[in-house]
Amino acid sequence: MSSTPADERSPTSPESAAARMPVPLGEALYTLRAIRRFRPEPLPDEALRTILEAATRAPSCGNSQGWRFVVVRDRARIEAFAPLYREAWWAKRREVGIHSVEDFPAGHRVMPHAHDLAEHFTEVPALVLLCATERGPDAEPCVVPAAQHLLLAARGLGIGGTITTLHPVVEERVHDLFGVPPGAQIVYCIPLGYPATPFGAVRRRPLGEVVAEERWDAPARWAEDAARSS
Ligand SMILES: Cc1cc2nc3c(=O)[nH]c(=O)nc-3n(C[C@H](O)[C@H](O)[C@H](O)COP(=O)(O)O)c2cc1C
Repeated sequence: MSSTPADERSPTSPESAAARMPVPLGEALYTLRAIRRFRPEPLPDEALRTILEAATRAPSCGNSQGWRFVVVRDRARIEAFAPLYREAWWAKRREVGIHSVEDFPAGHRVMPHAHDLAEHFTEVPALVLLCATERGPDAEPCVVPAAQHLLLAARGLGIGGTITTLHPVVEERVHDLFGVPPGAQIVYCIPLGYPATPFGAVRRRPLGEVVAEERWDAPARWAEDAARSS
């Protein structure tokens, strides 16, 4: 049986990590809303340390840990990045035929908020670029679980954020700005800060609609019951 080498063990014990995160896991899971508006307070080193350490506890392919987390708090750098984030956001919208705010689908719950983040990115207290240290189709999925660990740990400390993606149109300039080598890949850009909007229960489709039992098209009765009672 292999054991974890001492230098790969976290200096933080599971017990002290739990003590540092006062929000219980169940509450964190069910209230992990995307936060896109932030209070201006900066994020302390200690909070970032806890969040990033938790992110590195995530699983990866064969425990390859092919990730690098570029944490950015420097105001000048965030201000230089904000127009690139906005450009990337609109590049993604144009790909689906949206060229202006007037084209937003009526009643869309997410787009106005995502647009708001793109318009106010200069106000983000911190951002984390979750990078894969290699490029290619296998590298990206190997680091994805770290994003959720990161956001859950942040939630545990009362800090919010959301996963966002960039767009190839800005890739070279973003790599230059943050010194990301060409052989690495920015997978997600995660703004972080103390929330200006509340955490709260997330809206999701009922369980019975998305869970099957044994076969794709066979309903899971227990899942339907759970949906009714929630
Ligand atoms: C892979 C991925 C990409 C996302 N990209 C963006 C993005 O570019 N901009 C943004 O504001 N939110 C982005 N989100 C956040 C989603 O819009 C958000 O998680 C979803 O609307 C659910 O919101 P809720 O958790 O507040 O209910 C992304 C989420 C995922 C998982």
